[in-house]
Amino acid sequence: MATMQMSVNPEDLSQVPRGSERIPESGILVIFGASGDLTKRKLLPALFHLEQAGLLPENFAIVGVARRALGDEFRAQMRAGIVEHGGVDASDPKLDNFVSRISYFPLSFDDPVGYAALKTELERIAQERNIGPNLLIYLATAPESFAPIIANLGAQGMAHPEQGKASVVIEKPFGHDLESARELNRQVNEVFHEEQVFRIDHYLGKETVQNLLVFRFANGIFEPIWNRNYIDHVQITVAETLGVEGRGPFYEKAGALRDMVQNHVMQLLSLVAMEPPSSFEADSVRREKLKVWRAIPPIPILNTVRGQYGPGVVDGQHVAGYRDEERVNPESRTETYAAMRVGVENWRWAGVPFYLRAGKRMKKRATEINIQFKQPPLLIFNRMQSSGPCHDIQPNLLTIRIQPDEGIALRFGAKVPTTPEMAVCPVNMDFDYAAAFGSSSANGYERLLLDAMLGDQTLFAHRDGVETTWALCTPIIEAWAAKQPEVFPNYFAGSWGPECSDHLLEREGHTWRNNLGRKA
Ligand code: BG6
Repeated sequence: MATMQMSVNPEDLSQVPRGSERIPESGILVIFGASGDLTKRKLLPALFHLEQAGLLPENFAIVGVARRALGDEFRAQMRAGIVEHGGVDASDPKLDNFVSRISYFPLSFDDPVGYAALKTELERIAQERNIGPNLLIYLATAPESFAPIIANLGAQGMAHPEQGKASVVIEKPFGHDLESARELNRQVNEVFHEEQVFRIDHYLGKETVQNLLVFRFANGIFEPIWNRNYIDHVQITVAETLGVEGRGPFYEKAGALRDMVQNHVMQLLSLVAMEPPSSFEADSVRREKLKVWRAIPPIPILNTVRGQYGPGVVDGQHVAGYRDEERVNPESRTETYAAMRVGVENWRWAGVPFYLRAGKRMKKRATEINIQFKQPPLLIFNRMQSSGPCHDIQPNLLTIRIQPDEGIALRFGAKVPTTPEMAVCPVNMDFDYAAAFGSSSANGYERLLLDAMLGDQTLFAHRDGVETTWALCTPIIEAWAAKQPEVFPNYFAGSWGPECSDHLLEREGHTWRNNLGRKA
């Protein structure tokens, strides 16, 4: 398919404000569960990127908290993590100074005495480094530790310090079904007010996800056709080539529906389907997203598909099946793939199918939203097409590539030159983020950490939103748990998921778009 590129005017770019006014007040970031992978792979690299961009306050400290007895080696591990996972040069002149702000405090999460000592240690650091009284607490622990940590922080008065303010960032998974999410919300809100709580979904930190709002609401040409009159159906795919990466015990309890659909996929769906908010204030945006989820009727089990990968070949490498992964039950019934057809029964979307899927060990890594438009009457062309180079005139397709190859493409029909007949061929108008703006090593956490430090909740989940998406997913989780999957594993690693997933779309005359990513 022919493709034309689009670019950005450098003069326009040079006039974009760089947000230097967005520097948070001085404070301490306390990361619970700091010895885990997330801290060194994502959080610390993101914080260092903020430092490089001059977006961290001068007086700022990071305290890692975990059970293990780590001393100065923690600092060395974080430094190595920043270099390895942050695309940072080990000799970057800012690195030593940044690393000197990091310290470690060993704590058993259910030991109240330890929290009193932690509080004293934070006061000491604040005094020594002339840091203000603000605290940002980040829970990057296993989910079962969220509630005890929060209760202990509350008991020590750390949620409402006498001076300054405290906020808490809570990683996913936020609960494992509706009831547990409600209970966790209750426990969190017993200690922290809702405006202090930042439930993180790292997909919302991705530039291309935020660009969905800009694309829809800062451009006039798409909004009039962004509805059931013009859109035939929507596909949202979150495909990973990775397996469970040593996280067997966690994944065994989670599965694709809990791990990806309830949060990341539902967030993408809400951004595609929401009405324009009255502002980008947290309340306005979150209210519109909530309306979308509330407009989704219960999802019939017949409209869902689950899968589990067997052995196969991914990126040219033989890989094991899920049941042979480390610390996974050899008879596991956990799904590594989930797909479903949902409707959004409101005035904008009634009758438009939204097909959602997320899977591990798929053929290609791609997170993509495809919006297929209805076709115009084509009789005049069909009469002429039979012998042309492209027999099928394809519907317009808007592709939003969240990752990788970040960008947006619009497919339309063009006349094939030099043919005597009106032969029509699909071509693509393609906007490529990296080509237009340069590539970036940001991982999504930069924006979210900065927003949390600034107290901006727009890109974080509200308790109502979390409960509503769990309310949609919980009946599926329960129905799947009650009925043994017929054949597991039911797809090869390196394929596009189970065959029954294709039938989900075929019923309505649609097919998954597996031609994902950018074809230059
Ligand atoms: C996490 C899931 O939330 O998202 C992982 O727990 C998954 O299982 C990851 O691999 C995918 O994130 P990204 O940013 O690589 O698409």
